Amino acid sequence: MSYDAKFRVWRGDATAGELRDFTVAVNEGEVVLDIIHRLQATQASDLAVRWNCKAGKCGSCSAEINGRPRLLCMTRMSTFTETETITVTPLRAFPVIRDLVTDVSFNYQKAREIPSFAPPKDLAPGEYRMQQVDVQRSQEFRKCIECFLCQDTCHVVRDHEENKESFAGPRFLMRIAELDMHPLDSLDRKRQAQDEHGLGFCNITKCCSDVCPEHIKITDNALIPMKERVADTRYDPLVWLGNKIRRR
Ligand code: SF4
Ligand code: F3S
Ligand code: FES
Repeated sequence: MSYDAKFRVWRGDATAGELRDFTVAVNEGEVVLDIIHRLQATQASDLAVRWNCKAGKCGSCSAEINGRPRLLCMTRMSTFTETETITVTPLRAFPVIRDLVTDVSFNYQKAREIPSFAPPKDLAPGEYRMQQVDVQRSQEFRKCIECFLCQDTCHVVRDHEENKESFAGPRFLMRIAELDMHPLDSLDRKRQAQDEHGLGFCNITKCCSDVCPEHIKITDNALIPMKERVADTRYDPLVWLGNKIRRR
């Protein structure tokens, strides 16, 4: 069964833009990305949209649908009524390049600022056997497809451009938590998370977890445990004393 849907799509570039109205045909089983492609094919051949896999795995097609950060390829048209107007806009937290395409290089910059896994220098290959429990602790975080929807939705940067400098965002605080949970990592991730990547800005609103297409429990399993680890080292008097003595 086909019907005509009302779409409102943001068109423009870094200098200016506006919402434009379109009426587009929708077929059974389609997702929002199909409709955007039909728009390109029939009415707006220069409409810019980024996508790759159309299977929810490359993380390219991130945008906002009715103001909510979503993957265009994983949002079924059947989730809307046939009469409602569907508004598609670019990610709000990042600068627009053109139409639905944003410059997400903020995220690559943050990724570069996190030192990679650092096992002890004298550890010989095969000397340490990883336990399953240690693998499981961070396995969930590895499902991340780097769509940056969590980064886009977190109010710390969504409404406050000025915080971008000092806040890495949920995706990268989760990366630090993953490294901190690794039994062989030898860097001080807790201090980095708190002092260099703005863990303290996170007030556990969980919006990041709500929009994650991989259903990663970013807040419960990465951010809150990381906050607890920081609190343990900084405010537990016994740990604090131990650190003090060790540093001498
Ligand atoms: Fe996307 Fe989830 Fe990864 Fe954030 S944690 S970038 S929402 S997959
Ligand atoms: Fe932001 Fe997620 Fe924390 S949305 S405030 S990083 S819980
Ligand atoms: Fe790859 Fe949507 S096109 S996640």
